[in-house]
This record gives sequence, C-alpha cells and structure tokens, in this order.
Amino acid sequence: MEREQVCVSPEQLTRQREIAQELKDYFAQTLGRSPKAFVDTFGCQQNVADSQNLMGMLREMGFSFTTDAADADLVALNTCAVREHAEKRVYGNLGALTHGKKANPRQIICLCGCMAQQQRVADKVRQSYRHVDLVFGPQALWQFPELLRRVCRTGSRVFSIDDVPGQIAEDLPIVREDAVKAWVSVMYGCNNFCSYCIVPYVRGRERSRDKERILADVRALAAEGYREITLLGQNVNSYGKDLPQACDFADLLAALNEIEGDFLLRFMTSHPKDASHKLLDAMARCEKAAPHLHLPFQSGSSRVLRAMNRGYTREEYLELIDYARAVMPHVVLTSDVIVGFPGETEAEFEETLSLVKEVEFDALFTFLYSPRPGTPAAELPDPAPREEKQKWFDRLLKAQTEISGKKHAAYVGTRQRVLVDGLTGDARWPLSARTAGGRLVHLTGPEDAVGTFRTAEITGSNTWALFGTLAEA
Ligand code: SAH
Ligand code: SF4
Ligand code: F3S
Repeated sequence: MEREQVCVSPEQLTRQREIAQELKDYFAQTLGRSPKAFVDTFGCQQNVADSQNLMGMLREMGFSFTTDAADADLVALNTCAVREHAEKRVYGNLGALTHGKKANPRQIICLCGCMAQQQRVADKVRQSYRHVDLVFGPQALWQFPELLRRVCRTGSRVFSIDDVPGQIAEDLPIVREDAVKAWVSVMYGCNNFCSYCIVPYVRGRERSRDKERILADVRALAAEGYREITLLGQNVNSYGKDLPQACDFADLLAALNEIEGDFLLRFMTSHPKDASHKLLDAMARCEKAAPHLHLPFQSGSSRVLRAMNRGYTREEYLELIDYARAVMPHVVLTSDVIVGFPGETEAEFEETLSLVKEVEFDALFTFLYSPRPGTPAAELPDPAPREEKQKWFDRLLKAQTEISGKKHAAYVGTRQRVLVDGLTGDARWPLSARTAGGRLVHLTGPEDAVGTFRTAEITGSNTWALFGTLAEA
C-alpha cells in the first residue's frame, strides 16, 4: 500500500472532530445536561492505549467519565480476543448490561476492540445481545464519532467490522489517565501469523508510524514530566520495515534516547525472530532504555516452535538470551509461554520446562493454549487431555515461582533506583514503584514521592514483588 493510503488524511480526521462537536450539542440538548460514559478495557496495553483515544473522542463530545455502568449514558466495552477466557468475561459483562438498558433505554452500548472485529462475534451479538447498539473493531476506532452519529440519527444498530488492512490515524484526541507513565504506539498490526494467534486477523497488517511523529510525541510527554514511556507494538522489531526511510527499531530507540529529560523508555513486545544483536546493543548503549527485555519464547521445543510458525529454534532463542546477558549483565528478562499447543507431547513440554530452568526468567506469563476459531492451530488434532495439560501448567508455574522467589530474594539488602509510580491503598506499603528493570516494589514513604525517581532500600520480597523503604532523597 502507498504511504498516503496507510495514513488517514487530515481532512478525514477533521471531519470526525466536526462530527464530535455536532454530537456534543446533540447530547447536551437531548439530555439537558452533559453526558457520562463508562469505558471498560479488557485487553493488553495496545487495547488500553485505544481506550485512551476512545475517551479522548468522548471528551470532545462533552462526556465526563464514571466507573458505574448504571450511571452512564454510554457504555463502551473495549475487548480482547486472545484467549477464550477473555471473550467469556466480555459476554458475561455484556449480559449484565441488559438490566441497565431496561432501566434506561436511551443508554448507548458499544462493543469495540479485538473481539468485536470477528464476524462470528458480530453475528452472535446481532442475534443474542440485542441491547448492543454499536459494534466496531480496532481498525474503525478513528471513525467512532461518525459511527456514533449514525446510531443517534437512525436509532438502529450499527456494525463496522470490515476486514481491512488498517490505517494510521495521527493526532486522535487522548485522555491519559496517568501523569507518570504513558504509552506511545510505534506501530500497529501484525504480519507474523503465529498459528495459534488471533491478533493478525483482528489488528490488520503491520504499519509503522513516522519516526518524526513518534519523536514529537515523546518529546512532548517528556516536557510534560512523564517519567516512563512505553513504546507499543505487537512486534516492535518489525518497526520501520514498511517505511520509505531506512529506520529500524534500534535506530528509533537511539533517536529517542537523545531527547532531553529524566525518563525511562520501555517497549513491548519483541519477537525473537527479529530481535537483533543491533537492538540489544542499542539497549545496552542507551541510558534511557530500561534494562528489561520481554522476549516471549512460547515453547522450548523447536518442533513445537515450527508448528507455531514462530520462525526461530530453541537454540536461536537461547543464543539471543546469552547475547543480551553478555551486553547487559543486569538485564531483567521476562517472557510468555504457551502450555499445551495442539500435539505437544510431555517430552516437548519438558523442553519448555528445561528452557525455563536454564534461562531463569525474572517473571513469566504462562498461558494454557486456547483454540481461536479461524487460526490454523485450531484445526490441528489436539490429543492431550485438558487435565494432563493442567498438570504440565502447574509444574511450570511451580518451577517459575521458585525462580522468581529466588531472583527477588537477591534484591534484599540492596539499594535500587526506582520510579515511584502510584499509591497502593495499603497503609503498610503506601507507595508502588518499579525498578529500572521493571520489578514491582512496595514502599513506605511520603505520598509526594509519586512521580519521582528515588533510591529504595529493599528489605523484603516474595515471588511477585519487592518491599522496602525510601532512602533520603
Ligand atoms: N505480540 C506479542 C503477543 C501478543 S499476545 C508477541 O508476539 O509476543 C500475548 C501472549 O498471549 C502471547 O505471547 C502468547 O503467549 C499468548 N497467546 C496468544 N494466543 C494464544 C492462544 N491462542 N492461547 C494461549 N495463549 C495465547
Ligand atoms: Fe500473535 Fe505472533 Fe503476532 Fe504476537 S507475533 S501478535 S503472538 S501473531
Ligand atoms: Fe491485545 Fe487482546 Fe487485541 S492481547 S491486541 S487486546 S486480542
């Protein structure tokens, strides 16, 4: 696709803003007060970032926000499709909204996000969830004002889930809910088609934002005082492949590192297939790049990795980890893994277990394989019974719990530079913070420390967090 076709034109975006203003008048007149919205987010950081744009558009329409669906004139569920469990939760929440709609028939209910992009879901909502007014996928997010106007004008249900490659919409309005940490998308979509994964079907093709746009965003956030900026993409290592200028993710990171200000750069997610030595070198060199690498390996068996269409072997993965540790001796390593991919044998699971024991990740996100209709893996024979897979899963979790516990215990007695990022609500440890490597720390200390980098003395740990006190500033 030509670059002009990839980027939504400024005229089209202006038109959406005009429609938003029109809707602002419409809601003010029909309600006789300013409207309220409840936006509920179910997915990953990308999904969270989308919700912030959705809220930005709603705010332009005059909405304020509530966390009580019953109190809202508009409810939006921003959904995730990555596992069946995520979808079930959404259906449960959607069902519960029928009561509110009966009490307030003018309430507008929207279903958006990755789950909504699937035809099978749209069909089910059309038939069985008749109180839902508007259904649209991530690719149509920027057109939200127009879609909502159609609902308001016609009073009929609107579905916008066309299977399109997707575009880039710059400068969408945004509500950032946090004053310390911010997300910046560097690319959208995924071209990898891992055989188990629904994301490429619901998020469209890979498209990278212009480097200058990203630099401008990060500069503005740094100037506003944001202390942690996370660069987002399904596979940030694909950044730039589709751009006219030669600029890969390592180049982008190096350019961002030059921006003035005291802030940390994080990114997710990296795909081992194209996580290069160049990227790891750039991380090691850039003092603003957090010493944290989230590198999902998914399986320790090269046979399973091939069936997953991951594009690397166990040995190649381990080589990358060795290199990362060689250039960043204190790097924090985390990963994702799937247990029970169709056809996985116990011996292959053991290879996953042995990889986990060999690498000793600081933390691991473990998932039981969940068949996603429409993906190639969902068609494969899957002979291992659920109980068997659950046993493997429990074994893996037990091994990782020990490793995380041991890794965290090693912090006790050390001093760490942390970013205090919020309040916990727990009087014993009122502050929450992160080490540079991203480990969670609960701290004692004054509330005004939020938003600052501090030194913490680590006094305790468990498998999921560290505990400590703030040292003198
Ligand atoms: N783009 C990211 C991951 C996005 S999904 C990447 O490639 O690393 C987040 C995680 O969900 C994946 O890493 C994988 O471990 C898990 N996942 C994806 N599809 C799944 C499925 N069908 N069943 C179980 N886990 C899945
Ligand atoms: Fe899914 Fe693979 Fe793309 Fe990640 S890289 S989003 S796991 S298809
Ligand atoms: Fe994220 Fe879930 Fe979509 S993990 S990309 S919200 S399917």
